[in-house]
Amino acid sequence: MKVLGIETSCDETAIAVYESKVGIIAQNIYSQVDLHTQYGGVVPELASRDHVRKCMPLILQTLDECSLTLKDLDGIAYTSGPGLMGALLVGATIGRSLAWTLDIPAIGVHHMEAHLLAPLLEDRAPSLPFVALLVSGGHTLLVLVEEFSSYKLLGESLDDAAGEAFDKTAKLLGLPYPGGPQIAKLATKGRAGKFEFPRPMTDSFSLDFSFSGLKTAVQVQMQKLRTVDEQVKADIAYAFETAVVDTLFQKCSWALEHTGCSNLILAGGVAANLRLREKLQSLTADVIFPSFSLCTDNGSMIAYAGHERLVRGEVEPLHIHTKSRWSLQDLELH
Ligand code: KG4
Ligand code: ZN
Repeated sequence: MKVLGIETSCDETAIAVYESKVGIIAQNIYSQVDLHTQYGGVVPELASRDHVRKCMPLILQTLDECSLTLKDLDGIAYTSGPGLMGALLVGATIGRSLAWTLDIPAIGVHHMEAHLLAPLLEDRAPSLPFVALLVSGGHTLLVLVEEFSSYKLLGESLDDAAGEAFDKTAKLLGLPYPGGPQIAKLATKGRAGKFEFPRPMTDSFSLDFSFSGLKTAVQVQMQKLRTVDEQVKADIAYAFETAVVDTLFQKCSWALEHTGCSNLILAGGVAANLRLREKLQSLTADVIFPSFSLCTDNGSMIAYAGHERLVRGEVEPLHIHTKSRWSLQDLELH
């Protein structure tokens, strides 16, 4: 079965083709980062319009790269939520319309489920069950993945997501969007012990997260300083990154203890953070870090998650539905 995956939930148009038993046979990603950088964050309307421009040409280019045409496809998977409504609708409309004209099934995929399953695309795939730390720009979740489509939410962010905290703190430091990689880069020049920020919600056992206070702590610290030169900025970036990494480490450690699980996998854009990866290595669990391209938004994870549902016979009615908010707990096999 050959499944086309379409991801348009935020600021990346990403396309891939997954073939049963073979794996991903082609993939492409077009990032809108340059479009949004000047505004300091994603502008939803601009994102939707750019997906309209890029989606179809990228589908054709991707098929061409694996010597297929639309007629060779057996199914289409598209992200149907959570994400930006207008952006989601572009991928959903193209995916559903193509499937209708080709007379093949289409399936809407949960973006977070796709992130959770992405590590299974690696050569060294984790064995089930595993605890997943999903840290992206919009979500921070700790999930127990027992089997396909059986996800137990262990904890989540009560306010800002980890990636959002990186992005907002980067803005305070005058760094461009997206802030995570920028802070990580600047932090390599930072000195330890110059600043100290809180590790939110780590005083007593809790698997939930709260990062908005951390960003405020950085803001208050900056207001206290008379001059904030490049070295001071680097020291702040270092202290901030350390606080986030320590917090995520503590929660992962608790989650593994709480579930008795010995496998931890990382997913989502913040999982690209090198200091987080380094710190989590010290856990006694088997920690699996997917490649960078599988951590951040991509079409492969959508094609794969859709394939797994389609091969189980899941079908969807013809109407197009997308959800800007969608709890993993509400996900079931139809
Ligand atoms: O999963 P993702 O690509 O998109 C969604 O949010 O769905 O995650 C993007 C987030 C952004 O907030 C970005 O700043 C953050 O991941 N990020 C990082 C790093 N690379 C990307 N945060 C910290 N360190 C990084 N190296
Ligand atoms: Zn994502």
